[in-house]
Formats: sequence, structure tokens, C-alpha cells
Amino acid sequence: MLEAKTNMADPSGGAGHFSKTQALARLAQQVRQEIPSGKKPVLGEGRSDALLMVVGEAPGKEEEAQGRPFVGPAGKLLNRLLTQVALDRSELWVTNLVKWWPTEEKGLRTQTATPRAIDARLGLRWLIEEIRIIHPRLILCLGNLAARAIIGKDYNMTRDHGAWYPGPLSTEAMATFHPAYPLRAGEAGDSIVRLMLLDLLKLKARFDQVAQQEIQTNAMV
Ligand code: URA
Repeated sequence: MLEAKTNMADPSGGAGHFSKTQALARLAQQVRQEIPSGKKPVLGEGRSDALLMVVGEAPGKEEEAQGRPFVGPAGKLLNRLLTQVALDRSELWVTNLVKWWPTEEKGLRTQTATPRAIDARLGLRWLIEEIRIIHPRLILCLGNLAARAIIGKDYNMTRDHGAWYPGPLSTEAMATFHPAYPLRAGEAGDSIVRLMLLDLLKLKARFDQVAQQEIQTNAMV
């Protein structure tokens, strides 16, 4: 296992050093202060020295209830696909662009809404700080919303999925379909899952290269 990078520059830009744990606690506090009232934060989780960060769109009902990202049906499919390409979720950092369950009222029912542009902008501000703290080498975006925030506003999933792009803060970013998509695509679901698996295989190949580079770099210092 690669050694944890425990020190980082002061997130305020000052000269001091904060541990990643402290920096993440500070970000969590900021999210709790700035989140729209009545919303429960669902923060990122995983290894703070992860080489790969997975970024979804926004938590759903199940994630809000458990306070953890990707624990509902889409998360279960994500876990299965990661396992199929030999990526271990516990080695990664998993988070969302929007850090709360976006909802709308339909009659008496509360249902999932598409996050608004203003929510995505607020989420991106926190996410950039999260990327700065975790300092991953690779980012996997799940779905168009995350891909457009991280890779570029003209990102088109059908055209661009599985391709590598420069991401923020010297990362390399790729996107694939959001795992909720095949779950509601009926008969087309299986072929979407196959495309996702091909993308994740490319991700795994790059992940192995990057992990090897890190081992070599750490051996030199
Ligand atoms: N969908 C997402 O984008 N994120 C989650 O955490 C769960 C479902």
C-alpha cells in the first residue's frame, strides 16, 4: 500500500501545514455552514491518499438517510462494476458534485430533482477544495453533470465517454455513464453497462500505470 500523504499546504494559503484530516474536517464544517437550510450534507468518503477520485452527481434518498455517497441502487451497481475491473472501492475517494439530495415535491411525494445550475456551482467550489486536499492523480466523473463541471461545459457523454482529458489541479479526468442510467434504461441497460465496463477497464489500466509511477517515485525519496 502506498504511504499516506499526510501533510499539505495550509488550505487558507498561509505558511502552516494541516493534516488532510484537519483540512477535510474544515471543509465539512464549511459545507455544513453553506448548505441550503433543511438539507443534510453527504460528504465524500474513502482513502484520503487515494490516487483515484470518483465524482457522482448528487446523493439520493438512501444516501441522505445513511449520510454516505453511493450506497443506494446506483452505488450497488457502481460497486459491482468496480469489482469487475479489479478496482477496490475502499482504495478510492468517492464523492459527489452536489453534496445534498436535490428534491422536488410532486403532490404529496418528495422526489429526486435535477440539481440546479446554482447548486452545481456551489458544489464545484467545495469539490475543487476536496480535490486539492485529496490530491488524486485521476478523476472518474459519473454522468454528464459531473463531467461538465470537471472536464468542460461542452462534454457530451455519448461522444466523449472513456476518453482522457486534463482535469483540475493537474489531474487526468475521464467520464462514463452515471450508474443510475442503465438502471432506468430498461432493455438498453445491459448495453450501457457493457460500455461502462469498457470505460472502467481503460480507467483501471491507467490506474495501474499511475500506481506503479507512485511506487517508483516513493522509492526514490
Ligand atoms: N447518485 C449519485 O450521483 N450519487 C450518489 O451518491 C448516489 C446516486
